[in-house]
Amino acid sequence: MHIIKLSATDSTNSYLRNKSLKELVQDYTVIVTDHQTKGRGQMGTKWNSQAGKNLVFSVFKDVRSLCIEYPFYLSMITSLSIKSVLKKINVPNIRIKWPNDIMSDNKKICGVLIENVYKKNKLNSSIIGIGLNVNQTQFTELPQASSLKLQTGVHFNSTELLIMILDELKINFSLYDNGHLQDIKKEYETNLFSIDKASKFKSAHGNMFSGYIKGIADSGKLKILTEGREIKEFDLKEVQLLY
Ligand code: BTN
Repeated sequence: MHIIKLSATDSTNSYLRNKSLKELVQDYTVIVTDHQTKGRGQMGTKWNSQAGKNLVFSVFKDVRSLCIEYPFYLSMITSLSIKSVLKKINVPNIRIKWPNDIMSDNKKICGVLIENVYKKNKLNSSIIGIGLNVNQTQFTELPQASSLKLQTGVHFNSTELLIMILDELKINFSLYDNGHLQDIKKEYETNLFSIDKASKFKSAHGNMFSGYIKGIADSGKLKILTEGREIKEFDLKEVQLLY
């Protein structure tokens, strides 16, 4: 494991991706920074994180030997690894909000941005970017955001959390390697935010509708039981689960 600490960078995901395009990068190489100036979130959003207060890092995962048919498994493995660490340190009511927001109660405390690198049409590696709100206590204009400090009252050491998450990622990737795919998916669904609860969604066209989350497909699509009593599958661009 090779951990590179930068005092500041635009985005740890961008830094690691550029590095991997220029040189050979070892499995589990990590870029961690105190200050990310252009943090990126899912679907082209920004990820803002107060300098020096949070855990902001990216992990290079070589997936050539893993035979990943469905890249969403990388997402499930990552979310489950974070969830396990947060449970160990007694963060209350941890849930995974599809596809990979980590929630404590109804608040988002961690975001994940996974960027897959294909070579010759084959999944080669994955840049797993994680932004965990650790000791930040103010989130202006982000009413749904929270942190470990706000949720538990405890000040945490980000480096210790980083090591715990990396250890957990290794354990869960070895489960995948050993063929425990259904266990991973079952564990992910068990921890899914709002599973089997009446929920409100917004479609890509801005229409609101109600339904029940019933699980996920291997592709990563969300299965929703709609008012028409039909289970439909939606991908990230097609639906948003409202809080
Ligand atoms: C989201 O919830 O929208 C995903 C946020 C992911 C943020 C992390 S912070 C480390 C890594 N570098 C980035 O630019 N983004 C990810």
